[in-house]
Amino acid sequence: MRDLLAALAELRERLKEIPQADERRLPDVKTEILGRKAGALTRILGQVPQLDPASRKEVGGAANALKREFEAAFDARERALKHAAAAVSGVDLTLPGRAAWRGGLHLITQVVDEICDIFRELGFTRAVGPEAETEWYNFGALNFPKDHPAIDAQDSFYLDGGYLLRTHTSPVQVRTMEQYRPPIRVVSPGQCYRRDPFDPSHSPVFEQIEGLVVDEGVSFVDLKATLSAWARRFFGAETRTRFSPSYFPFTEPSADMQATCAVCRGAGCPTCKHTGWIEILGSGMVHPAVLDNCKIDSERYTGFAFGMGPARIAMARHGIPDIRLFFESDVQFLAQFADVAGGAR
Ligand code: PHE
Repeated sequence: MRDLLAALAELRERLKEIPQADERRLPDVKTEILGRKAGALTRILGQVPQLDPASRKEVGGAANALKREFEAAFDARERALKHAAAAVSGVDLTLPGRAAWRGGLHLITQVVDEICDIFRELGFTRAVGPEAETEWYNFGALNFPKDHPAIDAQDSFYLDGGYLLRTHTSPVQVRTMEQYRPPIRVVSPGQCYRRDPFDPSHSPVFEQIEGLVVDEGVSFVDLKATLSAWARRFFGAETRTRFSPSYFPFTEPSADMQATCAVCRGAGCPTCKHTGWIEILGSGMVHPAVLDNCKIDSERYTGFAFGMGPARIAMARHGIPDIRLFFESDVQFLAQFADVAGGAR
């Protein structure tokens, strides 16, 4: 018994080693003392049951007390080493992690896809055309008389060789009618360019979606019904639409369509300038001269066309006050509309 108490006293000396041990030495010291099989203290504790009752109590009590002291000392040293490591690397290990940014579709792309998807259900296919156009496709074939002031309203970027950057997607109407015979039902999204200022409601580069229907017996009723059905699908079932007279050289009659404001539901708010209505698109019955230019019999066929700006429509739907936000790489702005449901692409 004396031996055992002396061994405990000797072992106790090793408590001093612990605060000095580095991260490599510490686990070894711990094994030497508390190791399950060969730990010095473990071995002493293993001999306690063989002692006579009085010694058992004395040695057992002393050995268990020392065990608790060692455990506390190892604990404290382990924590201190962990803290020191974190401080050296400058990393706060207690901070929660940051999820990876997976990317997503730009809001305008999402709106274009959504608009075209609704028209697809209504029987429309997608068509595309070039962004560098001839004056004939951009203006002439669309019945803009040469030197007509309507051309000035679409001030253009001219390129060498008689080309210009298209000012609208309407040239795709002409290209489609040249290539396909009626019945025609197409929507055509794409980038357009005008010499406009870069201000809260204008951008020199912008997206448009064109629509064209040509068949026998197409009337203004089809135009109103199709576009109103689309607006109810896109903005919500309670959406109302109204049409007012307008002018485009390639449609006759022409009409602008407004829809009840999606932000205030028609009550009036800054997005709709307190009118309750939002300008959505330009439209009209295809002018017979345009059908003739595309060699489609204007006595037999009629049609309607429309053009809308997805940026303006996204602004109307979400109450976005400035078109320039779409062109800034402000991830906080864009992430609000992240296409999370669609997954990373
Ligand atoms: N192209 C016209 C514009 O940019 C819009 C429009 C398209 C109007 C089709 C009527 C029919 O203003």
